[in-house]
Amino acid sequence: MCGIVGYIGEKDAYPILINGLKRLEYRGYDSAGVAIIGNETKIFKKKGKVSELEKLVKNKDVSGVIGIGHTRWATHGEPNDVNAHPHTSQNNKFTVIHNGIIENYGRLKRKLEDRGYKFKSQTDTEVLANLIEYIYIKGNGEIDAEHAVRLALSKVIGAYGIVIISKDEPDKLIAARKGSPLVIGIGEGEYYIASDATPIIEHTDSVIYLNNDNVAIIKKDQLTLKTIGNDELKPLIQKLTMDIGSIEKNGYEHFMLKEIFEQPKSILDTFRGRVAADLSEIRLGGLFEVMPKLEKAKRIIIIACGTSWHAGLVAEYLIETLARVPVEVEYGSEFRYRKPIIYEDDVVIAISQSGETADTLAAINIAKEAGATVLGICNVVGASIPRETHAGVYTHAGPEIGVASTKAFTAQVTVLTMIAIILGKNNNTISDDEYTSLIKELTDVPKKVEEILKSDPIIKKISELYKDATNFLYLGRGYLFPVALEGALKLKEISYIHAEGYPAAEMKHGPIALIDENMPVVVIATQDNSYEKIVSNIQEVKARNGKVIAIVTEGDTVIKSMADHVIEVPKSHEAIAPLLTVVPLQLLSYHIAVMRDCNVDQPRNLAKSVTVE
Ligand code: M6R
Repeated sequence: MCGIVGYIGEKDAYPILINGLKRLEYRGYDSAGVAIIGNETKIFKKKGKVSELEKLVKNKDVSGVIGIGHTRWATHGEPNDVNAHPHTSQNNKFTVIHNGIIENYGRLKRKLEDRGYKFKSQTDTEVLANLIEYIYIKGNGEIDAEHAVRLALSKVIGAYGIVIISKDEPDKLIAARKGSPLVIGIGEGEYYIASDATPIIEHTDSVIYLNNDNVAIIKKDQLTLKTIGNDELKPLIQKLTMDIGSIEKNGYEHFMLKEIFEQPKSILDTFRGRVAADLSEIRLGGLFEVMPKLEKAKRIIIIACGTSWHAGLVAEYLIETLARVPVEVEYGSEFRYRKPIIYEDDVVIAISQSGETADTLAAINIAKEAGATVLGICNVVGASIPRETHAGVYTHAGPEIGVASTKAFTAQVTVLTMIAIILGKNNNTISDDEYTSLIKELTDVPKKVEEILKSDPIIKKISELYKDATNFLYLGRGYLFPVALEGALKLKEISYIHAEGYPAAEMKHGPIALIDENMPVVVIATQDNSYEKIVSNIQEVKARNGKVIAIVTEGDTVIKSMADHVIEVPKSHEAIAPLLTVVPLQLLSYHIAVMRDCNVDQPRNLAKSVTVE
């Protein structure tokens, strides 16, 4: 959601903070700010992108070796200069940056107002800053800043990752986490802190991930880790595996385009080491212990949000077809509030790129409490979801910076395909020959995606023709229905064109009324079991003068003669088709968004990881 960065050491803090904020901008970009401790604490904050903050700060005194910075995705209070972080308490004793939501902030605010506190902003963060200060001042010198922070946090309901500067103890940063991630980077006589590792990796690869209810007291040469209850903890130092190239654009105009083009590699990285060299076997080490439970499961429940939910829908087709286990796919946000029926022999699979999505995390906890075995499929190493689940599999897509998820989706589907193939084999619902041929099909995906990417110029030309459309319809059947949903979501979120995905057969039950000569209809129509049916659906669209952009199997002449445009993908088993057919849809939405002058990597109102409900 919001991005947090902090530095304490002997270097100038400002360049580290501003660079870190640029790296974190994908998490939120409504406003940004920094606080730097020099002779006094200097605060600069500005509505808009980090570049606006840079303009504001130009030629100002930003000297100081300790500082914090924040890039915001607004929750409480509109994006403006006043609501931007950092927030300072009334008597300037504490300066706070915060990611998350303080749910009981209204009640806390009223209590503070009764005690004479006045508020400048509409944020929950300012309430927290004043609460800490109130407790600190009331302590009459008996309690230090850290103690005041811990006491204040014990009164807070909600989620937070926070970093705090104390005016009276300016040699330290105090950080705390509950629900919203924080990672500390360890340098020589210096520490970095951030809401994810992207601002840290260029400085150090030694990190400590804070756990929920941890408080870190960070001086330039000393780190103390505690619980909110004041029990001292031994920090667990881990090595970052990400490399700096993976978080840069490497010559591409946008991260999204880079990430689309990275898919041959990210898919390969996701199955590499998990498929035997002679293609005789797939092994998922992370699931080894829980495999007997998966095999015996009467039902698998998949929980996710957004694009990850679409990957879950693909898995419903994969697992039910190949392994014959019933699958239910749930939105985390619905599951958590609707008293779901969960049995102890259910296996729940949570899918998340970031591993921090609040609704998915809450749903995981409900499933765990009900006694189910909960597995995670996650892209970010060390994130909350892999830590909250019983077992799981990492997708090795590498950092995904573009807000629109692309390579994470294909990596998730790759893992889910592997799970379905393994389960099918273990449950004897696929033959040995099918098992071997599916493994071969999966390992052929990277080079097939390479082929599809060569159609980029064709897709760009098609985009030019439809960039001004106001609506799009996406149709697919079976395995390709979730791909239709994903194509529509990609277009909506980055180009702001209204788009809907439908199972093609459902068109007759309503959406067909929308079709006229102005309606582009993207039909995912590769040659599979329902090919004849989708050909009929295309005819129905054409009969009403709709414009058809069809994703077809290479060499298809039937659809070519009917559709306005075709984009070919290599032939594959139908279970593998989602991994191929989604790629042209990603490119279509990308080009249309660029042609409409939209900010592709940072679409309006969105943030990369939704750590609030
Ligand atoms: O990090 P997660 O996979 O849990 O995120 C879920 C959704 O927020 C995410 O997929 C979102 O829908 C993307 N913007 C889609 O491109």
